[in-house]
Amino acid sequence: MPLSAALLHGNDIQVDRVRSIDPLGADQACLRLREMNRAADVPALATTMRALLPDAQALAGYDMDECLAVMRDLGMFLGSLKRHEVEPLHLAPEATPILLELGARTDLIPRDTVHHYCTWNPTDARRRMYTGEEQENHLQTSVRLVFPHLRAGLELCDLLGELEPTDPKFAILVDALDRELRPMVDSIDLVIDKVSPRFFARTLRPYFEDIEVDGRRYLGPAAAQVPLWLIDEAVWASDRSEPGYVDFLHHSVPYSLPRWRELHEAWVAMPSMVTRLLQAYGDDHVAAELSSPSLRASALAMSRMMRTIIVFRGRHLGIARQAYQEDLRLYPTGSGGASVDLLREIINLTKQNVQLAKSLGHAPTRGQVAQVGS
Ligand code: HEM
Repeated sequence: MPLSAALLHGNDIQVDRVRSIDPLGADQACLRLREMNRAADVPALATTMRALLPDAQALAGYDMDECLAVMRDLGMFLGSLKRHEVEPLHLAPEATPILLELGARTDLIPRDTVHHYCTWNPTDARRRMYTGEEQENHLQTSVRLVFPHLRAGLELCDLLGELEPTDPKFAILVDALDRELRPMVDSIDLVIDKVSPRFFARTLRPYFEDIEVDGRRYLGPAAAQVPLWLIDEAVWASDRSEPGYVDFLHHSVPYSLPRWRELHEAWVAMPSMVTRLLQAYGDDHVAAELSSPSLRASALAMSRMMRTIIVFRGRHLGIARQAYQEDLRLYPTGSGGASVDLLREIINLTKQNVQLAKSLGHAPTRGQVAQVGS
């Protein structure tokens, strides 16, 4: 597979290679970064980042994977400088054209994303971390673990777009999607177990602040960029959302991988799976189930799958509320630019859609209707 196609699909071979390479020779500098952050040593951070910047010839010679690894390493310095309240590219303006070039060549934003920070980051002693603390390690791991599953889940959503809810395969694929979503629950359980709200709020959160690149602001590598919004879009959010979430969703698009932006383009104007389920049931639920015996299984599978998302979101809201309580937080909003109130709104919207699917799946059958009437 050509490298650009590998990126589009985020496949494992490419991920392993990006993790293993060090085009800037930045391994030692990235280890020292933790110490510089502890000491709030802005001059050392700036000098080290400047020394790492590739010249035009080196930049031109990088392949796709090398561009990703270079962005990953420069990104660690960008977030660190910002944490110490310095706008990084005001201090090192010569990095701007390099970031723009790396963004254009990889078809991503001109700064690092959650993919650089978690997925394309080495998992061994070479791991790039702002603090070097175990808790940061756990947060990176928990987010990294969900990506292969969400990638598979998104491809299942694409297949589901081709199927009618009356098709017996629909429920089977929705159950498969449910299995790919369950690691989100494991991920948040790991975070609840290993990362304290205080560590997140006071130590880690400041590294995820937005920075300015060429006159535009770009968010840091936050977990909010995990493409659950895109699963939602396929399942219910393309046509059953509210303005606050629509806005969040549109702001999330540029931070995702090219293949996922392609899926978003296709899904944004399509009826969602929940809407198609409602249409398949029509006004006469009993008649619909009689002519399509698979419909009930589809509705129940949909409600189970969305329940899994609610379990993740419920536990996630718990830790988000703790980390953003007034006496702990340093910032009023999350690193994804949204508030804890939005998280509540998203849960409510998800619940409404679970209720719809569940009520369809538990609608009385013709036999039950006849019994009640007799
Ligand atoms: C200490 C840990 C965490 C805290 C305090 C936290 C906090 C937040 C906050 C405040 C938001 C609102 C949007 C924004 O960031 O601006 C958010 C969104 C989000 N976060 Fe987290 N988060 C944490 C860990 C995680 C983890 C481990 C994952 C996934 C693996 C995750 C996935 C998401 C997603 C998908 C959203 C978008 C909203 C949604 O789909 O419900 N977060 N988070």
